[in-house]
Amino acid sequence: MNTTIVIFGASGDLTWRKLIPALYNNYVKGRMPECTSIVGFARRPYTDETFRTRLQEGVQSFSPKTYDPKRWEEFAAMLLYFQGDLEAPADFTRLAGYLPGIEDAAANRLYYLATAPEYYIPIVTAMGAAGLADQPNGWRSIIIEKPFGNDLKSAQALNKAVHGVFEESQVYRIDHYLGKETAQNILYLRFANTIFEPVWNRRYVDNIQVTVGESVDIGHRAGYYDGVGVLRDMFQNHLLQLLSLVAMEPPASFQADAVRNEVYKLLSSIRPVKLGETVRAQYDGYCDAEGVAQASVTPTFAALKLYVDNWRWKGVPIYLRSGKALRKKSSEIIVEFQRPPHLMFHLPDETRFTPNILAICIQPDEGIHLTFEAKQPDSDQGMHSVDMDFHYRDFFTGELPDAYERLLLDALEQDASLFTRSDCIEAAWRLIDPVIQGWEVQDIPELGGYIPGTWGPYQSDALLGQDGRRWRTGCG
Ligand code: BG6
Repeated sequence: MNTTIVIFGASGDLTWRKLIPALYNNYVKGRMPECTSIVGFARRPYTDETFRTRLQEGVQSFSPKTYDPKRWEEFAAMLLYFQGDLEAPADFTRLAGYLPGIEDAAANRLYYLATAPEYYIPIVTAMGAAGLADQPNGWRSIIIEKPFGNDLKSAQALNKAVHGVFEESQVYRIDHYLGKETAQNILYLRFANTIFEPVWNRRYVDNIQVTVGESVDIGHRAGYYDGVGVLRDMFQNHLLQLLSLVAMEPPASFQADAVRNEVYKLLSSIRPVKLGETVRAQYDGYCDAEGVAQASVTPTFAALKLYVDNWRWKGVPIYLRSGKALRKKSSEIIVEFQRPPHLMFHLPDETRFTPNILAICIQPDEGIHLTFEAKQPDSDQGMHSVDMDFHYRDFFTGELPDAYERLLLDALEQDASLFTRSDCIEAAWRLIDPVIQGWEVQDIPELGGYIPGTWGPYQSDALLGQDGRRWRTGCG
């Protein structure tokens, strides 16, 4: 059967930088369905040829290792351009008339919203009116990019508009962190091994830390970022999704709803966050960046302390932090285990004892490290922390695929397990919204500052320090 992929916002950065390179790589790997057409919908006056040339430059720039002129020519034959205006419902009716002309009587269709988020509701509504969601012969699915709403209310409004046209089973809300190999591997680490799960609970775990650090500052993205800030940009989606993979109960199968039921249960078991257990800060010099509002109070760093009120995690603090302009790009999850109940060895300073730490390194040095104590050779009772480490680069050959490759392929195969369901999106907003309200309306806690190139403000260290803990970095 034919498959048609329609990308709304085809002249934009996402299409050029991520979507087409990912589809091209899937093609080169022989993973694209046969008889595929990729239709770009945008306003610019491209022809099929000029559209292909622009996208070719994207693949050459963003996937230089796999670019091959001959393979590109084959792939480019699938690319078609449809000039249309996202704000003109009549253009969706024209599209509905155009698509059957390039398809057989039966065809599957995957629509991709790669536009600015303010167009999502108008597009979906126009699609409904044009009959583009109807499934007379072949399935129709839609991928929706983040941000999915700006708060709970707007996320609910978007879900309502989408559900007015598409069934939930047709909707794929993308969070590219779930497409990262190392994020998926959390499920394999936990559920394809027997040694971790027995200790993965409040009886053995002292605390969990999730860090998603970025060394880049906001660069030229102020237009988007300044009205959004770090909680909406990173926490509501990426950090909470990573946490879900680490902390959820074992799903009974890898079926989409089995996995997402557990994600929902986990997110809805998180206790409302206390404002006093949050940190917000902005890096020095942020307000000088092009496009940032004068005296902007947009936070570029946040740290939160959470508790999951369920049988497994009751009482175990979970610390999340993320920010721009930090010391380095590093995403990692730390599971810090409790100290042994009794230490028979003589330690000069017991407070300096290092507990076992399992570090799950999401990026850039993908892998897993386990830190444990060993006797210092040729000492009486000296101890030293040592590291048992696994690096993807040492074990698996080849580059790790970009997250969009996996996610686009899954959507083409109608597997939604790595996509976020509407109730999970709303549960995440329900948690984050009151924090945003507290920060923006009550102004609590006060906005801290930090020097670019550090690990954030001192308040972030104090958040753990007051619990007698500290941020760990276990990924080198
Ligand atoms: C995006 C955010 O979702 O994720 C960006 O909007 C952020 O601000 C990016 O830089 C980080 O993604 P990655 O894959 O580079 O860690």
